[in-house]
Amino acid sequence: MTQTTAMPVIPLSPDQLIHVRDANSSNEWWRSSVIYQVYPRSFRDSNGDGNGDLPGITAELGQLAELDIDAIWLSPFYPSPQRDGGYDVSDYCAVDPLFGSLDDFDALVTKARGLGIRIIIDLVPNHCSSEHALFKAALEAPAGSAERNMFIFRDGSGPNGEFPPNNWQSHFGGSAWTRITEPDGSAGQWYLHLFDSSQPDFNWDNPAVRAEFERVLHFWLQRGVGGFRVDVAHALVKAPGLPDWGGRADGCSSEGFPGWEAPMFGQPEIHDIYRSWRGILAQYDGEPILCAEASIDPLERLTNWVRPDQMHQTFNFAYLSTAWNAWALRGVIDSSLRTFDTVGAPTTWVLSNHDVLRHATRFGLTAETSRPGDGIGPEDAQPDLELGRRRAGAASMLMLALPGGVYLYQGEELGLPDHTRMPSEYRQDPSFARTGGARLGRDGCRAPLPWRADGAALGFNDSGAAWLPQPEEFAGLSRDLQRADDNSMLSLYRRALDLRRAHHLGAGSMDWYLPFQDSACVAFINNGVLVLLNMGEADIDLPPFAVLLSSDPDAPFLRKLAPAQCAWLDLGTVAGDDMA
Ligand code: NOJ
Repeated sequence: MTQTTAMPVIPLSPDQLIHVRDANSSNEWWRSSVIYQVYPRSFRDSNGDGNGDLPGITAELGQLAELDIDAIWLSPFYPSPQRDGGYDVSDYCAVDPLFGSLDDFDALVTKARGLGIRIIIDLVPNHCSSEHALFKAALEAPAGSAERNMFIFRDGSGPNGEFPPNNWQSHFGGSAWTRITEPDGSAGQWYLHLFDSSQPDFNWDNPAVRAEFERVLHFWLQRGVGGFRVDVAHALVKAPGLPDWGGRADGCSSEGFPGWEAPMFGQPEIHDIYRSWRGILAQYDGEPILCAEASIDPLERLTNWVRPDQMHQTFNFAYLSTAWNAWALRGVIDSSLRTFDTVGAPTTWVLSNHDVLRHATRFGLTAETSRPGDGIGPEDAQPDLELGRRRAGAASMLMLALPGGVYLYQGEELGLPDHTRMPSEYRQDPSFARTGGARLGRDGCRAPLPWRADGAALGFNDSGAAWLPQPEEFAGLSRDLQRADDNSMLSLYRRALDLRRAHHLGAGSMDWYLPFQDSACVAFINNGVLVLLNMGEADIDLPPFAVLLSSDPDAPFLRKLAPAQCAWLDLGTVAGDDMA
């Protein structure tokens, strides 16, 4: 492995650099971690029922260890009617038989630990499933009862309570309120659900709800989990009186409705909950962490979730949603590092997850093919797959060179695109049904992984059954083919992850490299590695340092970087010396 020398072999003058941050000397693993998201239902199916499962994940841990990851984040595997991909939990302390058993979970944690991989699980505290015993009890109990007080029940407005209590909208479309039938058969109260009607929101003003989730935290911490990714971590507490809100249902700012005024998001009392959880985690060995899934803007506000006494990480969605544009990318990287540094928290970079178009698809969209909303369907203009793949590899290389934590979504290391021609009858995302098909939803990024080019369901299992269809393109992108190909996306990820560790890039420093600052090339230096991402239309001449890694196989020979390619150069080695 090439070692970094502290001093560039060709001195850089101070006017070539803008310093953003120093390297970080902390040993805390989560400040520079690589965490790989597994969406269990689509990862690997061990029993051939068409649904991925926990034994399937355990069986393939060796493949993930090859990526040199620090942890796996498991999307929900709890008992659930699966109305929202398991984010509708009916029992927080068990495993859905669809995915296996608690013994399977323990076996996964044990084997992962042996490979140096932590298992982080998904905690869904804002809402549960309407099949949860607590909600069923609330439906059977009278208005005003302790059982109802676990949730947010209100009388309706209008002379007969026939209208929802306020105008809040569900993330998935339609009203955020559903009216129940009381046990005596009369039309009754309404309950709040910021998501699907099958996902009633808990009442976090009630200490009994807090106690219940403390129990859940202890249950899993005692089983050795490495922490929790906290679902909609900005929504738990609602503003007193539940005032009307005409802004976006996801709490992000829109014209006339700044996100910080949204009454269902980012309420100040929420932070006390996380302070108490941080205290609970601190009672356990192994530095378990909390990572917030919080759609909060601007970044200055988001840092409230990662102050030293609260969560360790929060996803940087501003980065994820940045377009393919050098000026925008430089801007979001610069403001993210500077802003998170003000509270001593790492920036946690992410490009894909189970809720968005995979970045190999997103970056293949042009102004003409972009479609508002989520999902792409057979009727839509299709993305340019080749462009998307090239840009995705380059964008991932850039991300892996940034200081801070990184989240990878299963399959991005294979360069997988979304299934953009999925027939409607397969769609399961509640937003599809709740909007009458106007929103296609997120099923396209959840198709089962291709493991073997010649296997049933491309090696997802041995039976060929699959809960969602796989797109044609997956056949040429299977893991076995890519493992055998030195120029594959998988090989690029493996080399990048290796070098990231060898050069301590996750805990690294950051200086903008000014010779490219006015161009469409993003250029920065981290711990002696010069990173260049060409987001323009023309080739770029490489500075005279040796190429450590490049998404463009010709770059080291031609000394040029083609459009939509990324290169890492070693400031400690002169170009040419590497070729000797
Ligand atoms: C965020 C999750 O990532 C998403 O999949 C889910 O639908 C919502 N939260 C509701 O739990």
